[in-house]
Amino acid sequence: MAEKVAENGEQKRFYLETFGCQMNVHDSERVAGTLVSRGYTAVGTMQEADLILFNTCSIRDKAAQKVFDRLANFKALQKQGKKFGVLGCVAQQEGEAIFKRAPHVSLVVGSASYARLPELIAQLENGETKVTGLEAATDEAFETEYTRRDHPFRAFVTIIEGCDKHCAYCVVPFTRGKERSRTSASVLTEIRHLVELGYSEVQLLGQNVNSYRDPSPAGLSFAELLAAAGAVPGVERVRYTTSHPRDFTPEIVRVMGENPVLCDHVHLPVQSGSNDVLRRMLRGYTREHYLGIVDGIRACARPLALTTDIIVGFPGETDRDFEETAELMHEVHFNSAFIFKYSPRPNTEAGTWPDDISEEVKAQRFAILQERQQAMQAEDNQAHVGATMKVMVEAFHPKLAQWAGRSSSNRVVNFTPMPALDVLGQPGALRPGGYAQVRITKAGPNSFVGQQVN
Ligand code: 5AD
Ligand code: SF4
Repeated sequence: MAEKVAENGEQKRFYLETFGCQMNVHDSERVAGTLVSRGYTAVGTMQEADLILFNTCSIRDKAAQKVFDRLANFKALQKQGKKFGVLGCVAQQEGEAIFKRAPHVSLVVGSASYARLPELIAQLENGETKVTGLEAATDEAFETEYTRRDHPFRAFVTIIEGCDKHCAYCVVPFTRGKERSRTSASVLTEIRHLVELGYSEVQLLGQNVNSYRDPSPAGLSFAELLAAAGAVPGVERVRYTTSHPRDFTPEIVRVMGENPVLCDHVHLPVQSGSNDVLRRMLRGYTREHYLGIVDGIRACARPLALTTDIIVGFPGETDRDFEETAELMHEVHFNSAFIFKYSPRPNTEAGTWPDDISEEVKAQRFAILQERQQAMQAEDNQAHVGATMKVMVEAFHPKLAQWAGRSSSNRVVNFTPMPALDVLGQPGALRPGGYAQVRITKAGPNSFVGQQVN
């Protein structure tokens, strides 16, 4: 496509940096695609760009602060005529206040307004200095024919946007709006297309994929959509994230047990092991209910890896509550856990309550869980030494002379290739996006080391 040429004869270049979750990463791919369709060219540094965009995250205070710190660092670039835009969750949350806090920003767009990007960019090009797209989320999912995928072999596919759960700590229902599912036909067509393009792994995305409801007459549930995605001819791996215990059905586990194309990994955030905290978090399930789901997952026809998210220092969390979380972690033996210190967010219910657990106690609880989890992982992972894993090859590290990739259960595996020769007699029959069988020789808490085998 021809590059857009400005009136002064220069080509238009954009730099886009992404913070936050995979939904944001994928939104950035769609934003980039839209800009490219408008004749812009993506560049890798701010210095080369005319338009500098940050796609932002506001899930915790630190994430939002990072964006403003980053913006402050590059004020000087504005003097060179560069334009700055803030997209995504911080844009949705802070709105026009961003123009005050960072006056060199001239574009503020929330995710619900991405469909209007061409028009907003045109306003910016016309010299407007405060361009906003801050609609509340609509009933429609954001569909665009323009997606510029960053990854050559792993593709994100949104199946549902927004969230209707309203957990007391969470800003997502505010920043991303109400749940909107895409039709199953649209999702499956996109997957078929991706397979044709050579993608080998598809990751279904949503804030809560389990509450997917096909809006078309086909009316597929999430489990049915998952089964249909796994049955698309040529697709090698299908993952999904994120799940919510309240909507996680035994049907999902059954479907996963039946088809090895569906990756053997469930990410199921528990957040807390205390019923009292869960109740005040408005999570809508109990510790016992969660443990019942875990039993179901453990009884799957194939072993499934289980990972989770945990928040420490939620308002009113007592020592006893915290111990219950630590005990639950020990009982479940998660394969990995993301642990977060509670951070009050605007526009949330808990954000109006006193943040009464001191930073010191939060840090202590965080460190305790982190240490115990790492110790459990180090021990549990030893059981895989000697096993063979199918690894999707991602990158070669010349210094180590090793390839890195991921198992179906999403574990990182670094491995030494066989001294293979390709048809031309060149070494290295492996390629990113391809697969290798790897025998595990060493296990650490967060990754494995192995040797490629036949
Ligand atoms: N404070 C700390 N952690 C949070 N998370 C979401 N909101 C907050 C918050 N206000 C965590 C949850 C969620 C993960 C994506 O981020 O654990 O599952
Ligand atoms: Fe961050 Fe949530 Fe927005 Fe993702 S949806 S970028 S996690 S605030």
